[in-house]
Amino acid sequence: MGIVQEMIFLFLFAAFVVNLVSAQRSTYIVHMDKSFMPKVFASHQHWYSSILDSLKSTSPNFHQNPSMLLYSYENVLHGFSASLSKSELEAVKKSLGFVSAYSDKVATLDTTHSTEFLSLNPVTGIWPASEYGKDVIVGVIDTGVWPESLSYRDDGMTEIPSRWKGACDGGYDFNSSLCNKKLIGAKYFNKGVLAANPNNTKKMYSARDTEGHGTHTSSTVGGNYVEGASFFGYALGTARGVAPRARLAMYKVIFEEGRYASDVLAGMDQAIADGVDVISISMGFDLVPLYEDPIAIASFGAMEKGVTVSSSAGNAGTDLGELHNGIPWVLTVAAGSMDRWFAGSLTLGNGLTITGWSVFPARAVVRESPLIYNKTISACNSTKLLSEVSSGTVICDSSESFNNQLYYVSRSTLDAAIFISSDYTYDDSLFPYPGVVISPGEGAEVINYAVNGVNPTASMEFQRTLLGTKPAPIVAEYTSRGPSPSYPEILKPDIMAPGTLVLAAWRPNDAVSIIGPNIGLSNDFNLASGTSMACPHAAGIAALLKGAHPEWTPAAIRSAMVTTANPLDNTGTPIRDAGFSYATATPVSMGAGQVNPNSALDPGLIYDATPQDYVSILCSMNYTQKQIQTITRSSYNCSKTSSDLNYPSFIALYPNKTKNALAKKFKRIVTNVGDGAATYKVQVTAPKGSGVTVYPDTLVFGQKYDKQSYSLKIKYKANQNKTVTFGSVIWVEVNGKHIVRSPIVVAPIIPVW
Ligand SMILES: *[C@@H]1O[C@H](CO)[C@@H](O)[C@H](O)[C@H]1NC(C)=O
Ligand SMILES: *[C@@H]1O[C@H](CO)[C@@H](O)[C@H](O)[C@H]1NC(C)=O
Ligand SMILES: *[C@@H]1O[C@H](CO)[C@@H](O)[C@H](O)[C@H]1NC(C)=O
Ligand SMILES: *[C@@H]1O[C@H](CO)[C@@H](O)[C@H](O)[C@H]1NC(C)=O
Ligand SMILES: *[C@@H]1O[C@H](CO)[C@@H](O)[C@H](O)[C@H]1NC(C)=O
Ligand SMILES: *[C@@H]1O[C@H](CO)[C@@H](O)[C@H](O)[C@H]1NC(C)=O
Ligand SMILES: *[C@@H]1O[C@H](CO)[C@@H](O)[C@H](O)[C@H]1NC(C)=O
Ligand SMILES: *[C@@H]1O[C@H](CO)[C@@H](O)[C@H](O)[C@H]1NC(C)=O
Repeated sequence: MGIVQEMIFLFLFAAFVVNLVSAQRSTYIVHMDKSFMPKVFASHQHWYSSILDSLKSTSPNFHQNPSMLLYSYENVLHGFSASLSKSELEAVKKSLGFVSAYSDKVATLDTTHSTEFLSLNPVTGIWPASEYGKDVIVGVIDTGVWPESLSYRDDGMTEIPSRWKGACDGGYDFNSSLCNKKLIGAKYFNKGVLAANPNNTKKMYSARDTEGHGTHTSSTVGGNYVEGASFFGYALGTARGVAPRARLAMYKVIFEEGRYASDVLAGMDQAIADGVDVISISMGFDLVPLYEDPIAIASFGAMEKGVTVSSSAGNAGTDLGELHNGIPWVLTVAAGSMDRWFAGSLTLGNGLTITGWSVFPARAVVRESPLIYNKTISACNSTKLLSEVSSGTVICDSSESFNNQLYYVSRSTLDAAIFISSDYTYDDSLFPYPGVVISPGEGAEVINYAVNGVNPTASMEFQRTLLGTKPAPIVAEYTSRGPSPSYPEILKPDIMAPGTLVLAAWRPNDAVSIIGPNIGLSNDFNLASGTSMACPHAAGIAALLKGAHPEWTPAAIRSAMVTTANPLDNTGTPIRDAGFSYATATPVSMGAGQVNPNSALDPGLIYDATPQDYVSILCSMNYTQKQIQTITRSSYNCSKTSSDLNYPSFIALYPNKTKNALAKKFKRIVTNVGDGAATYKVQVTAPKGSGVTVYPDTLVFGQKYDKQSYSLKIKYKANQNKTVTFGSVIWVEVNGKHIVRSPIVVAPIIPVW
């Protein structure tokens, strides 16, 4: 089991150690029913401490350990975490009010042109309507923050809202005066990681970002404007977050030594207590049922308090059902590319100029360098062979992967290299050697010139950034695919947002690029890829929606984003999927499509849901009473049981082998959030091989906030090839502008946790 921090290619990270628990004790998260607390206790913490104190008498080997109680949780769950032996745990289980306990788990980790790509602009739409997220508070649960980054400067920010209850905690290399009107809170939660690493001698802790990930995600959500930001000349421009006037509060729960559920829960618990409006969490726990998933547990409490939680789908790639955070009450975000390309231009001695992919991080001089095409070395898979040529620009064919070729070439004595590859999406920003990647067609021209030209030469220039490239977005290969193993009856992910090669702030004392085998380069900004980078885009949009519509519930905010998402790319054709040879992407890869913030501002209709609706979902699952209470905290009412949530999308699952005709019926209630009366007519596109009927086909709303219901029935069959098919149901406003679209998906059943 693991939290996954959703950034890919973090190979500069120190490896972290799992399960370094003392032989005697390990950390458990214990859920308690508050209603059983005896009146003699002044607080829950006293009650929990007394339970742990009472273990002394039951456990003969008990050694007094003042740090045994790690955290007492108040908001997102009722209970505590503690370091316990097996027999102590058994004793705790006998306490009055005990609900459930499970051992601490390890999490897996998952620029700013993206705001333009999302059509955010100062003239119309959600930026002006929300005043850029002014006074919305976003809590980021991550690796900490680099507070000196220009992205956290507070020029242009007004006074901190008086409802804010958070604080800026000082610590090692982190002065509490570093917070300001932009970065309004910074706290760290390391008791779980310390308990799991008893031999750790490091005593220096604070909310300072020792990785870079948290600085990147938080500045993506709500970083201030920074002019002249770039990645060594690439992506040059003004950096800013999606909600540039929102407030940021960092809750550091991830440390180099580990990532533990007990710390994640403590961070989310504090964020809710402090009064955040939105939580962005770019990590997830794999292979856990909802009642043991700290993010599911904590975000249920957040949802009840009206806090939207945006989470990352994970970077597990193309296998179906590997997604995490597929939690019914959160927003689950997939990742895609932008309409931006980084390039070098290659000019041959005969005048031909080709623009090829490059992120070589400097203005290297490659001028009229002898161009070499030699079949003996063109696989570029041996530094020794390459160095026999000594100088010039070598052409590398596609017989070896471009990443391997980069490795061998960057250890050679050549001037530069030209790589031939049929790939055209890239998500890695490392390019340690002067060179460009060109297509096989272009490669044939270059080889022809190299073989037949007289004294052939090549020149290159770097640091080119192309905008408006097509097609975009493309679903990233790495993004995790649904259906959700924790609750497959709801379509996950919900939406897609930019996640590939996002430019945002980073810690300046880290090597974010390299030249040759061993020259590390640092920078104040970094290009990073992963669903970790997509999640904060969606969190920023949720903050803008909250600013524009303070009364909207988390379900309403999610509904607005889902029903207005765009399934088409910038060529007007269906978005493609880099993980499936650029075939049309399905909703299990990207949800309803690319998030479209200006349309989400005014969605026309919303599919709302109450906390009780989610309880009805839990009641429909094969969970015990205690497992449900672990999520809901207090007593709950299972008088209504439903596996069908009022969700803005539809999914029907088929078992492995059945020839029988299958059918599934859904009921939905939509609320008119447009101004005044409206009539909508339905347009249905059934998934291939299925039949869909919707009743009624017209919805008439007398005024704003009127509700209407409809039913949708799908008849479908199992597919031997385990393919995913999809269509949509679209409510189109008559004589109006609103288009409310929901995907309909037919997918194979996947193993459930
Ligand atoms: C911690 O240190 C003690 C004593 O050096 C050693 O016996 C024990 O194995 C160590 N524990 C871990 C988890 O490394
Ligand atoms: C924190 O910063 C303030 C203001 O810059 C300074 O007066 C104080 O000495 C600093 N505290 C520490 C512990 O460095
Ligand atoms: C390098 O590539 C050539 C051509 O594809 C191949 O024959 C050779 O075995 C490769 N060498 C290594 C060390 O991989
Ligand atoms: C090609 O490269 C090999 C290995 O370096 C070298 O022995 C050979 O002479 C080269 N061929 C030509 C035509 O340059
Ligand atoms: C439901 O849970 C019970 C007890 O945990 C288990 O025995 C049973 O197989 C489960 N049923 C299904 C359909 O998962
Ligand atoms: C449970 O909910 C139903 C319907 O909402 C209500 O009639 C009933 O009184 C509730 N029961 C409890 C114990 O709250
Ligand atoms: C369906 O088949 C896959 C292997 O193709 C297997 O892993 C899975 O358990 C099967 N599911 C069911 C519900 O039988
Ligand atoms: C399944 O795949 C096979 C081979 O790719 C293809 O011939 C067949 O038409 C597919 N069947 C369905 C139902 O898609």
